[in-house]
Amino acid sequence: MGKPIQLGEEEECLLRTSNLNFACPPSTPPIFPAAVYACESTDQAEQLLGGVADGYVYQRDGHPNADWLAEKCRKLHHADSATITSSGMAALGATLLSHAQSGDHMVISDQLYGRTSLVFGSEARRLGITVTEVDVTNLAEVQTALKSKPRLLLVETISNPLTRIANLPALAEMTQSSKTLLVVDNTFATPLGCQPLTLGADLVIESMSKLMNGHGDLMLGLIAGKERGWDRIRQTVAAWGFASSPFDCWLAERGLATLGLRVPRAFDNAQAVAELLQGHPAVDEVIYPGLPAHPDHELASELMMADTNQGGKSRYGHVLSFHLRGDATRVDQLIQATKSIEFCPSLGEVRTTLSHPASTSHRAMPAPQREKLGIRTGTVRLSLGIESIHWLTQQLQAALDSLDL
Ligand SMILES: Cc1ncc(COP(=O)(O)O)c(C=O)c1O
Repeated sequence: MGKPIQLGEEEECLLRTSNLNFACPPSTPPIFPAAVYACESTDQAEQLLGGVADGYVYQRDGHPNADWLAEKCRKLHHADSATITSSGMAALGATLLSHAQSGDHMVISDQLYGRTSLVFGSEARRLGITVTEVDVTNLAEVQTALKSKPRLLLVETISNPLTRIANLPALAEMTQSSKTLLVVDNTFATPLGCQPLTLGADLVIESMSKLMNGHGDLMLGLIAGKERGWDRIRQTVAAWGFASSPFDCWLAERGLATLGLRVPRAFDNAQAVAELLQGHPAVDEVIYPGLPAHPDHELASELMMADTNQGGKSRYGHVLSFHLRGDATRVDQLIQATKSIEFCPSLGEVRTTLSHPASTSHRAMPAPQREKLGIRTGTVRLSLGIESIHWLTQQLQAALDSLDL
């Protein structure tokens, strides 16, 4: 059983307004849209811009809304430091630019979000960085790849879209001995599903555009980690222009306030829908870590946080994939049939959405590589929201029943 998930001290901070220096503090935080702040003296400007003194000068270098949001995320992940970026890809890009340079070597999972594979694959090679892709579920293969002492190893806690689970404690042990930075994209899990830094990871990345915010109305990213090497990240985010917008940070803080309600509900819905789909004749295979047939079911039960309010019940994420029987035309039939569950190439919203990796998130990947990984033209990814399970199962059952088999 995984570590208990409950609203503890760190998570309670999500419900509180950040410390504000007012006699009567406002019950919701203000938004600071200022692009620039007035300085008292040249000395002060130099100290603020040099990061020696606390305060703000220029929005790209930092602003209160980003700092308040970062502080909440830092606590959730038990990190020493956290930084908010303009998107999940900005967080990944800033990590790459901060920790690798021409002549370096990196090892990356062969199962990553499509754009991440592009940036850490062909884009990194264009910058003179060599890259080896590994199956991170094969620890012997990872061990061999780490012999070259790469700068970093990049994995996803729960991979997109096939929900394979990275054995973070085992990977952390290996990367520590090869002095490699273990970077974990935890977007699918959120800190209420898994806390990679407590399992030995060095850096955790999240797309805050997804479940962390939960309302599909902003783009942000998070980098959280240990103090070592943090100045480099802060400088890269500010100098390369990866910084966030105050309004998006403000919205994300509001979204985060309900994380403790949304995550368990979405995870429970995913489990129930996975079990429903499993028995349907239109579905060839359901891929969800909460199903005993999933290759990483036991590992997920150990690594994912368990709910103490429900007798230690394990939960396995809000995303599942399934292969429809027949050819790709079935996917379009399903999209037409599930009008109330929209085909949106994103995830992590309060409403359930459906996606088709082969034509969206993984379209840049050559078809033979996609198929080798197990992403078929008939593979559908569902991101479960917080609707009533009765409504959800009704909608999906009716849509699947309407397909001509
Ligand atoms: C696992 C994962 N990481 C990172 C990203 C990129 O995040 P963003 O869209 O906020 O740039 C995505 C986007 O779908 C994702 O699924």
